[in-house]
Amino acid sequence: MKDNTPLAWAVRNISELFIGRRGPAAGREMGEAPVVRDAVVLIRDGIIEASGAADVVAIPDEYDVVDAEGGCVVPGLVDCHTHTVFAGSREAEFVQRCEGRSYAQIAESGGGIKMTVKSVRNASVEDLVESALPRLRRMLEAGTTTAEIKSGYGLTPDDEIKMLHAVHRLAKRQPMELIGTYLAAHTVPGEFAGRPNEYLDLVLDPAVLKRITDNGLAEFADVFCERTAFDVDASRRFLTVCREHGLIPRLHADQITQCGASRLAAELGAASADHLECIDDDGIAAMRSAGTVAVLLPACSFFLGVEQAPARRLIDAGLAVALATDLNPGSSLIESMPLVMSIACTQMHMTPTEALIASTANSAAAIRRSDRLGALLPGMQADLLILDVPNHLQWAYHVGRNCVRTVIKRGNIVHPG
Ligand code: NIG
Ligand code: FE
Repeated sequence: MKDNTPLAWAVRNISELFIGRRGPAAGREMGEAPVVRDAVVLIRDGIIEASGAADVVAIPDEYDVVDAEGGCVVPGLVDCHTHTVFAGSREAEFVQRCEGRSYAQIAESGGGIKMTVKSVRNASVEDLVESALPRLRRMLEAGTTTAEIKSGYGLTPDDEIKMLHAVHRLAKRQPMELIGTYLAAHTVPGEFAGRPNEYLDLVLDPAVLKRITDNGLAEFADVFCERTAFDVDASRRFLTVCREHGLIPRLHADQITQCGASRLAAELGAASADHLECIDDDGIAAMRSAGTVAVLLPACSFFLGVEQAPARRLIDAGLAVALATDLNPGSSLIESMPLVMSIACTQMHMTPTEALIASTANSAAAIRRSDRLGALLPGMQADLLILDVPNHLQWAYHVGRNCVRTVIKRGNIVHPG
């Protein structure tokens, strides 16, 4: 089966089928997801043909069959916020943080993002591709079937485009579906210190944006909206010009301080505002009115040893909360979405059901793919996982163990492969 998955086949002997929901699921909806016991799934041409109870959904005689052996089946995980393409390593900063220095102190003394920028500028597209491949393999093995990947470590037009070319090549070199995001406004590079608008002139040059969009290198634009990076006015400018060129806005918002970034996300109709550790009530209200997805990054706060975003407050206020790894070499060298779900449950008071909806339906909504990703409903893409636990509650509960037995992407078995 695995080398040559047939066009029409079925998964049977599923103890619990977590169908999930079409995103975004807001507030209380996040905890209400249908499950079916003793279920089957029919797959045809990479699409879910039918899913439901074994005594209701019949498997046609000509279909090949895979036995889930009493495991749970869930939608493939969507990691909607990553910096998976990078070069170099920053373990020296990790040691400094273990000794008590903060992420901000390290960044202010010349470390942080700027360290990775140096390494990325010295790397070729192929270097970036080769170093990202094993990360993507591990993410897939842990259940991620779709990932967004940002630029943001090049900080010149050519180096940013080089990173996006790496994402584009990676999409063809391994099974996971990848989406590129233009994060040229990640930080002001050293050569433009104190002159953020001059730097933005460079990366907002229409010819640069045209190179990105003409070649389909990115769908989203992102900014680190923070006093130490780009303030609200500079962020608005970056995202507005990008949007005029067809890139959908997203933001790193209210991570280290509250500076109005989540309100800006709502004002611009951003697909998501991400981080939100320091969000205030005005930001929450604005995002709720605008329908902005709140992407939380529990692995980042865990890795930095700082307070988590107020997940419970956001869900109880009626927002659609998504989860992602924020995989990057500085603040979250964490590739595993299941670990993110476990941290969300143990540290942020999300339930396992909410955490799974946040990692499927709502993370698909954050990258505007709710039409085909994030649930196992007929007509949606056949991205699914067979787990070796009998129900989805046991997944987040068994912290740090890989419970994924089989990964299916677009109807093909891609792991084990
Ligand atoms: O999402 N907040 C800014 N950017 C990344 C960190 C990147 C880095 O330290 O290399 C983040 O946490
Ligand atoms: Fe990030």
